[in-house]
Formats: sequence, structure tokens, C-alpha cells
Amino acid sequence: MIDPSHLRNTPLTPSQPAKPFLDVLNGQRQITPPLWMMRQAGRYLPEYRKVRETAGGFLDLCFNPEFATEVTLQPIRRFGFDAAIIFSDILVIPYALGRSVRFEAGEGPRLDPLDTPDGVAALAREADFGKLEPVFEALRRVRAALDPKVTLIGFCGAPWTVATYMIAGRGTPDQGPARMMAYRHPDAFAAIIDTIVENSIQYLLRQLAAGAEVLQIFDTWAGVLPAAEFRRWSVEPTRRIVAGVRAKVPDAKIIGFPRGAGALLPSYVQATGVDAVSIDWAAEPAFVRERVQSQVAVQGNLDPLVLIAGGAALDRAVDDVLANYAGGRFIFNLGHGIQPETPVAHVEQMVKRVRDFRS
Ligand code: CP3
Repeated sequence: MIDPSHLRNTPLTPSQPAKPFLDVLNGQRQITPPLWMMRQAGRYLPEYRKVRETAGGFLDLCFNPEFATEVTLQPIRRFGFDAAIIFSDILVIPYALGRSVRFEAGEGPRLDPLDTPDGVAALAREADFGKLEPVFEALRRVRAALDPKVTLIGFCGAPWTVATYMIAGRGTPDQGPARMMAYRHPDAFAAIIDTIVENSIQYLLRQLAAGAEVLQIFDTWAGVLPAAEFRRWSVEPTRRIVAGVRAKVPDAKIIGFPRGAGALLPSYVQATGVDAVSIDWAAEPAFVRERVQSQVAVQGNLDPLVLIAGGAALDRAVDDVLANYAGGRFIFNLGHGIQPETPVAHVEQMVKRVRDFRS
């Protein structure tokens, strides 16, 4: 008897898919694209809010392996996603470099600003990875608990995006303080970037050793840079991280997310050597198909706001994303992180629609 579940995800090569998400990164398009969501563990989930209350501060949650494991697994249990992303934050690197990092309720991250050459001269060059041991322990626990067909993602922030928070001490609308520092004090700025590059390579390698199977590099603020600065401060440091990781783990699978890169996406992909690129909701489909998806796998790009809106608008938007990209190597995701006010029922609606799709 033929089990129809075999037919559903038959890849376009003879082997059965052991892991739909990893298979896409290995070059095999899936008939039904694998699916996960950026920021899938978070405040839109009641079970997350409960653990968050018990844990105390946000960093206490990240650095408690039991809690971090639990919240990483929550969205997998609820929605059956194809990938779990370890619960942590991009700002754990500045923290391990000895910077003060705090998360204030409803206000986002607060760091001590690092915006003078003297300050940079005093910055530690090597992170204390002992401080991040709970993240590695959580990775080991999550991997042990996950169904083998679910892929475990580790991550870091791209140096440019991490630097914007280290320099300004907080999120700013257009990353003005970091852009200004790169113009006024290029050497000091480059020293911050170099420090983040070197430590991110070590951090990602340690995540792989602890059980991460894919790595994602989040460059949330790539889109605010002029083209030449984008190449220098976003593309080049990311290329060095990819090369540094692959020098030790040659087949490491890496996804880049240069949010807002737009017309610069093809050069980002070519120069960095990433295996896949995560695209935001403003990407132009024909351009991405021809210039990006022809080279690497694409991940994205539902507008997180339509997931809040729900209803027929959500169905249409999901169908558009699938029509645009599911003909090639594709991972269904949002164009940026899910927002806290998103109804869980809308996520269920999206998941069902993607799961019912065949290309
Ligand atoms: O589920 C997941 O995706 C894994 C966990 C994850 C978090 N942050 C948890 C988090 C990941 C991958 C990140 C990445 C991250 N962190 C980025 C890049 C991706 C993006 O979304 O742009 C950035 C820029 C940060 C820095 C950061 N952390 C900000 C600006 C904020 C405040 C904004 C907010 O949403 O509150 C955080 C806090 C944060 N990181 C939360 C979570 C779940 C919310 C904190 C809470 O629960 O109180």
C-alpha cells in the first residue's frame, strides 16, 4: 500500500527527505516548502510569557538551559515547524565581551554606549565564552529532545548590526550613531567590527559543536547603509565569518539575512558564499528568482503585519509568497520576526495553508 505522506514531500531526487529544511539547503527543492518563523519563540505565545515571568530578566531566560530549552521547543510542539532556533540573542556577544547589556521591559536593549576611539581601545578583544556555556548546554538539550527530522539553527548577529547596538547603546531609528562613527573614526569602528567577526566565528563554531546544524547570520540593519558602506561593513565582515567557520567546518550550512539589501542581494550572496538568503517582505519577486534563487536557496518573506491582520488578506499573502518562490529552493518564513501582538490562530491558519500546498 502506498502511504500518501511519502508522496507529499517527495524531493525531486530519488532519496526520501530525512530533513526537509536541510535538504533545501543541500539543493533539493521540496514540493511542500519547509517552514519556520523568525522569533518563533516569543511573547505572542502564552506559554512563553509564563516561562518569561518565572525566569526574571530576559538574559536570565537566555542563560538558564532548562528555560531556554523549554521556550525553544514550545513553537515546535505547538506548530510542528521544520526548524527550531536556539533561544538566545545577538547581544550575548557584547555581553561576553564584558559590555553591560540590559533588557528593559517594553523598551528593548540597553548597553553602555561605545562611541569614542578611547572606549574602543579598552574593549576586550576576546569574549569570555564561559559566560555563554548555558547557550551551548541548551543547544545540546534541544538537539537531544528534538525529532531528528527537525533542524536545529544556531545564530549570531552580523557585525554591523551588533555594532549599531554597541555604539548607540540602544536601537535607533536609522542607526545614525554607528554610521557617524564609521565616517568619523573608521579605524576605531573597524576595530569593533574585527572584534565581533573573530568572536562570532568562535561562537558559531561552538554552537555547531553543541548540536546546531545550520547557522543564521542576522543583519537586521544592513539596509540603512550606502552601497559602498554596505560592502565594507556588512558584506565583507559576513564573508569573513562564513570563511572562518568553513575553515574549520567546510560543509557548514549558513543562511544570511541582510534585511533591506534590495538590489544589493545578488552581490551579497556572491561575495559572502552563504547557502541561503533570508529576504524581507519588500523584495521584488522576479528579481529575486532570477538573480538570487538561481544561485542559492531563498527563505521568507511574509509581511509580519499581515500575520497580525489575518483573514482573507493573510490567505492571499501566503499564496503570493508560495507562488513567487516555491517553484525553486525555498523555505517559508516571515520577512522579519513575528510581532508580540500576533494572534496564535493566525499562525495556525498560515501553517495549515503552507502545509496543504503542493508545487
Ligand atoms: O525565536 C527566535 O527567533 C530565537 C531568539 C531570538 C531573539 N532575538 C530573542 C528575543 C533571535 C534570533 C533574536 C535576534 C535578534 N535580537 C536580532 C536580529 C533579528 C531581528 O529580529 O531583527 C536583534 C536585532 C536583536 C536585538 C534585540 N533583542 C532587540 C532589538 C530586542 C527588543 C525588541 C523586542 O522584540 O522586544 C531584543 C529582545 C528579544 N530577543 C526578545 C526575544 C524573544 C523579547 C524580549 C522579551 O521576551 O522580553
